[in-house]
Amino acid sequence: MSLANLRSFLAEEASALLQDHFGPGPGIQTVFVPGRVNLIGEHIDYYDLPVLPMAIGRGICIAYRHRPDRKVCAVSNSQRTKAVFELSHHEKAPPGSWINYLLAAEAVAGNGWIIETGIDAAVASNLPSAAGLSSSSALLVGFTIALLRANGVEPSIRELMALLPEGEQFVGTRGGGMDHAAVLAGCPRCALHIRFSPLQLAPIPIPFDWRFLVAHSLTTAEKSGAVREKYNALRMAGTGALQKLCLPSYAAALQNYENLPVENLGESERKVFRHVCKEAQRVGGAVEALQANDFARFGSLLNQSHESLRDGLQISNDPVNTLVETVLQAGAEGARMTGAGFGGCVIALCHAHNIDSVQEALRQRYYAKQLDQFDSDNHLFIAEPSAGALIE
Ligand code: GLA
Repeated sequence: MSLANLRSFLAEEASALLQDHFGPGPGIQTVFVPGRVNLIGEHIDYYDLPVLPMAIGRGICIAYRHRPDRKVCAVSNSQRTKAVFELSHHEKAPPGSWINYLLAAEAVAGNGWIIETGIDAAVASNLPSAAGLSSSSALLVGFTIALLRANGVEPSIRELMALLPEGEQFVGTRGGGMDHAAVLAGCPRCALHIRFSPLQLAPIPIPFDWRFLVAHSLTTAEKSGAVREKYNALRMAGTGALQKLCLPSYAAALQNYENLPVENLGESERKVFRHVCKEAQRVGGAVEALQANDFARFGSLLNQSHESLRDGLQISNDPVNTLVETVLQAGAEGARMTGAGFGGCVIALCHAHNIDSVQEALRQRYYAKQLDQFDSDNHLFIAEPSAGALIE
């Protein structure tokens, strides 16, 4: 299905869901937010270091309609519970509940603008959740935009970026701004080189014969659930390392990191520090490789990143590692876990001429053993570099 068809299909699904739950009627609007896959630059965005993700063709669509009061009511095609709350209501839902992302969206919108009108909303998604593809950030971003538009506000990317990363912390993950920037500002046929403080968004064209394959390990990593503590602990170790080294930022550390007295750090601080510095350098190398159409170098950087995430940060798992090895044996040029870690998807660089055979090999060598769990549409697909929610 083409991207345009896919979006209109999701929009129809969301609008039908809205009318099923909240009754027929005019005035339905929709907002589409893609997922993202991070090509390289993992666990460094929250230290304000540059990253290189891209928005993908899959995503979520929210159909919404004004309400005459301050209530927010929402349903989703992938969630059993219905959300019902009042604007300015600050009580959280239980940990892991999707409703917390809606509450976070309401907090973001209310922090930046005056929000008086509630909405009825329905969410339709074709993004695998808890897979490292930003389904939760897409929900947060989409719901924020829906609430704002229903209140007559057309936010800019920059306005949203000033509020969204902080808003996500309402759900408990102390992440950075990569996901929001990618899903808002991705560009067709490009990776997005994101720099923070100040925010700079540079689309880098992807050579026409490179293909990025997304393969699901069939293990999940629920960011708002158990993974949250591990994720936040990593961030604390990295910040602790900076403090012990008396450095103001990782940008400062990068100027001379090989010569710093890292032996004074605790073991996890040292591992995180080393990963962050090296990964930041790999992002720089990956941007150069993309610009120079250097397929082999890009692939090798993906492999190095995976090794660092697996052995340094220790945030991969056995199925993800097996999947990385399998896709490399099948002919991919490079591969690594993508996203927060602890399960989810692998991103692999392939060439147009072998993408079909790599996929076929994965079906036979990885997924055939778990056919009862494998859904070929959602667990193995070529990531199409796409437009973000606010890019025409
Ligand atoms: C999650 C966070 C991002 C980023 C990645 C790891 O997706 O939301 O901000 O930290 O993990 O790179």
